[in-house]
Amino acid sequence: MAVSVFEVIGYLAVGVYTLKLLNGVFNRFLKGGVKPTAYGKWAVITGATDGIGKAMSFEFAKKGMNILLISRTQSKLDLVAKEIVEKFPGVETETLAVDYSNFDDDKIEKVRSALEKLGGDFGVLVNNVGMSYDFPLYFHELTDQKTMDLLNLNVTSTTVMTRLALPIFLAKEGKKKGAIVNIGSYAGLYPSPLLAEYSAAKSYVEKLSNSLYYEYKDQGIDIQCHSPLYIVSKMSKFKKSTLFIPSAEAYAKTVLSLLGGNAVVSGHWLQSIATFGVIDYIPQSILMAKTKSMHLSIRKKGFRKLEREKDAKKTQ
Ligand SMILES: NC(=O)c1ccc[n+]([C@@H]2O[C@H](COP(=O)([O-])OP(=O)(O)OC[C@H]3O[C@@H](n4cnc5c(N)ncnc54)[C@H](OP(=O)(O)O)[C@@H]3O)[C@@H](O)[C@H]2O)c1
Repeated sequence: MAVSVFEVIGYLAVGVYTLKLLNGVFNRFLKGGVKPTAYGKWAVITGATDGIGKAMSFEFAKKGMNILLISRTQSKLDLVAKEIVEKFPGVETETLAVDYSNFDDDKIEKVRSALEKLGGDFGVLVNNVGMSYDFPLYFHELTDQKTMDLLNLNVTSTTVMTRLALPIFLAKEGKKKGAIVNIGSYAGLYPSPLLAEYSAAKSYVEKLSNSLYYEYKDQGIDIQCHSPLYIVSKMSKFKKSTLFIPSAEAYAKTVLSLLGGNAVVSGHWLQSIATFGVIDYIPQSILMAKTKSMHLSIRKKGFRKLEREKDAKKTQ
């Protein structure tokens, strides 16, 4: 029986999709992550006092890693450090207050010397700090300050921290010299109208990580980008977890379970299926029309909330 060209194309398409799916299932469920202690005793986590960064600090501590917590507010850092030590006796913590919106030479030197002090025990860097818009806006509506903050917190922090870590990792002996986990976003994998700069910044994080993965893999350094959809946190404004929106704690577990794996992963398994198994196959014009209309509606609500807040202030 003759097989038509269309049938051959159909079989090929199904074959490619099935292979991609099997590869995804293997990497997520069967391969297993590298134990963080294989890289060294200390994990350095940015944006470690809330949301995903805080949850990851606990998860790394649970695996026996000492944690250097970095974020903006010293009082919050002290609190998280205390909570970790109480929950995981034997784990050591250090804290460093750094504001990445102004990561100047002095602060860079402060971080460099803290990392050099860890030396060969420095095993994992998690570049988690980042920020998005308060609500979706047209690009011209962003303030100049917000435009710079989005670059500094997402792009500069990840770039500089990675450059501070690499020489320390490279100076080490052994097969697993270090791991770098960069927290990107689903918004960095696809265009995101009305979140354009966040999307572009996270796309940079994804491309940097993906290239560095191949650049350093054979030198014993595992570099990875996580590109999740929504996670419960202050930033996302989601307060309760659902099947598709995991808690920061559940998400942190998946980050650990995928350590040292593929260059770009989506994190939570259902989000991974949604991203790489479904969304990837939706025509971009349809996906963008839906995304834009959703963001326009959130923008409207955002402005309404601002108005309500202004009115409330006036009546005070
Ligand atoms: N939540 C989501 O749905 C989601 C989805 C995709 C990607 N992500 C990414 O995940 C990462 C973490 O987000 P999150 O939702 O966990 O955020 P979050 O709950 O708002 O926590 C932000 C953390 O960053 C610190 N931070 C904020 N501004 C800082 C600054 N200028 N300098 C230093 N530290 C600063 C905060 O500490 P202080 O309070 O002390 O400043 C806090 O520890 C971000 O890169 C984000 O883009 C999140």
